[in-house]
Amino acid sequence: MRVVSGIKPTGNLHLGNYLGAVKQWVAMQDDIQAQGGETMYFIADLHGLTEWIAPEAMAANTIEMTATLIAAGIDPERSILFNQTRVPQHSELGWLLNNVARVGWLNRMTQFKDKAGKNREGASVGLYDYPVLMAADVLLYNATHVPVGEDQKQHLELARDIATKFNNDYGRELFTLPEPLISKAAPRIMSLRDGASKMSKSNPSEMSLVKLIDTDDQIAEKFRKAKTDADVLPDTMEGLDGRAEARNLITIYAAMADREPADVLAQFAGQGFGVFKPELADLAVATLGPIRERLTRLLDDRGEVGRILERGAEKARDLAAPLLLDVQRTMGLQI
Ligand code: TYM
Repeated sequence: MRVVSGIKPTGNLHLGNYLGAVKQWVAMQDDIQAQGGETMYFIADLHGLTEWIAPEAMAANTIEMTATLIAAGIDPERSILFNQTRVPQHSELGWLLNNVARVGWLNRMTQFKDKAGKNREGASVGLYDYPVLMAADVLLYNATHVPVGEDQKQHLELARDIATKFNNDYGRELFTLPEPLISKAAPRIMSLRDGASKMSKSNPSEMSLVKLIDTDDQIAEKFRKAKTDADVLPDTMEGLDGRAEARNLITIYAAMADREPADVLAQFAGQGFGVFKPELADLAVATLGPIRERLTRLLDDRGEVGRILERGAEKARDLAAPLLLDVQRTMGLQI
């Protein structure tokens, strides 16, 4: 069993990334390793290039994202933690897989459509080709499981299609089909300002997302001002139908507390948000505060964080090199 997943170094980790992905990554260090498996997590700096980031910000973000993952519980002694650029086999396999993936498959990717918007002609080729590099990221290690938020599910289905076509075209089961693991507790955390759009780094409103580096006061303020409705909380999940903002806050509470949403509702049924929001804010401060403190300490020695990435990359290259060679030879490339 091998778990592989990545995160772009754009801006700071937010609650959606944390509850949707990173919290699972941390838990898997125990679960998967207890079963003799391996966990690998990386900073997808090459994917980060698909949206403009100034070079100095890219360098700083990569270090900060790494430190955030460590602060959140990823242990570089137990998981292989690295950045994509330091393992050139990702890009090389990405190119080889470009010749397997079909334009029609990429044309169906909803994330590209959302991100490119109306200006498709002006979108970068990298943004369009993004899912093929993502397929390479996981196929390169024969990943069996890929823990991600729901927004990445379609990309992983594409990775499976690419692996299947490669295996068929070349007549051997070279690639393992990766299984997406979508967080049950928090598949899709929504913006605090709008229950119809997901919490995202690219949302211009600071009040829409809680970042792991936010101060206790900022966290409390964001939850206090989160959009809600005037009704009291219902006693069943069905009672949240049509109340996207309320449902989102219950989901966040439950995911942070490792409780079932129905159980949280049973506690707060009949209460208004005036009661629930301060409780949610307290829980968030208690959960995120210690992570922020560890992060601040780690950032005192950015050089050490860089060395952690290099050590992780060394291990990742050792795993990636033989598989890439196998793919190249299978395709008849002379090496
Ligand atoms: P990225 O950097 O956008 O997000 C990192 C992880 O956080 C999850 N996520 C969310 N989960 C729940 N609610 C939200 N509002 C929310 N926002 C983000 C994402 O689903 C993701 O799991 N393409 C990936 C990075 C990547 C990757 C890979 C992942 C590159 N190569 C290979 C897995 C395997 C991305 O842009 O994630």
